[in-house]
Amino acid sequence: MTSKELFQDAINLKKTPRPPIWIMRQAGRYLPEYRALKEKHSFTEIVKTPELSLEAALQPMRRFDLDCSILFSDILVVSEALGLPYYFKDVGGIALERTIKTSKDVENLPSADCICEKLNYVEKALKLLRNALPQKAVLGFCASPFTLAAYMIEGSSSKTFSKYLSFIDENPKAFELLMNRLESATITYAQMQADCGIDAFQIFDSHAGLTPKNLYQKYSGRYISNIAKSLKGKTKTILFANSMTSRFDEVIDANADAYSLDSSVKLSQIRKNFVGKFALQGNLSPQLVSESTPEICAQQTREIVEDMQGLGGHIFNLGHGILPDARLENVEAIVNTVKNF
Ligand code: CP3
Repeated sequence: MTSKELFQDAINLKKTPRPPIWIMRQAGRYLPEYRALKEKHSFTEIVKTPELSLEAALQPMRRFDLDCSILFSDILVVSEALGLPYYFKDVGGIALERTIKTSKDVENLPSADCICEKLNYVEKALKLLRNALPQKAVLGFCASPFTLAAYMIEGSSSKTFSKYLSFIDENPKAFELLMNRLESATITYAQMQADCGIDAFQIFDSHAGLTPKNLYQKYSGRYISNIAKSLKGKTKTILFANSMTSRFDEVIDANADAYSLDSSVKLSQIRKNFVGKFALQGNLSPQLVSESTPEICAQQTREIVEDMQGLGGHIFNLGHGILPDARLENVEAIVNTVKNF
């Protein structure tokens, strides 16, 4: 059975001999070979050069032989395509050169058609990755409109996103228009990626936790649901709605084929509590990969796999992205535990 078949069975809720495994942010700074690539090329250069993007995506595949490979890119390429480029701050972190401040700024955004031309480098990189790994599952991705808008209005990462939350409060009409524009742009972007032959499309709603209680659908979920519907029959969708585990009942209306969960829950409990047709992805703690030992990582990994054993529809992953200080021997132990299960 190939990794691609294993992944397809899992996301179609079939029982599999073991879960397929990949790691959110599997390409990146914890890998010495990625740091070496960064000595020669900037992040933006890697993202915009299809051959370099392919190289970055293949690095974790060569080292760990994971079942799934994710496009090497960033969620912020979409904001750049819409006229708001991103850059790296000297003090660390990422920021946008321009932000959205008024409803006029929203009205002046280019229409969704610009996506295919401006993000042609993504299409090329994804086609290279698909051809390089015919027997692996290949994943595309984007941000949810709500999470993308958070950066487009706030202008950078933030603990509170207070500018963004005030904008939503003070300009509800402009916010809705922005969400609709980002939904259209994302649907165009998602179709382009689906046409490259991906096995699934992951939507990162990294700032989902900013939505008011009981209003996840209104603020974020309904736009994701439209994106997921546009992909039905073309590819599968995975939704990572960060910090929403305790409000999971609000998330499942998003119509995704799979949901990625953080490390605060037992996956089997979610499976028991929420009757529905979706697979579950997760959910080892990323902190553990940075701070503990191979023995502890293997033990915790085994517990998660055993917990979901026989229930079907499990894709193994971390509860959130792997951290730059993750230990390679721990990743090795996790992958071996899953693959030898
Ligand atoms: O293997 C992979 O998953 C790589 C592809 C990938 C990247 N970013 C590469 C990247 C993916 C799927 C992302 C998603 C992404 N980007 C998210 C959602 C995931 C999440 O963690 O919730 C978000 C919020 C972003 C926006 C972004 N891009 C941030 C906040 C940062 C970090 C800035 C910093 O300096 O800490 C980035 C940069 C980024 N994107 C890096 C990588 C490998 C690090 C850049 C570097 O090499 O210096």
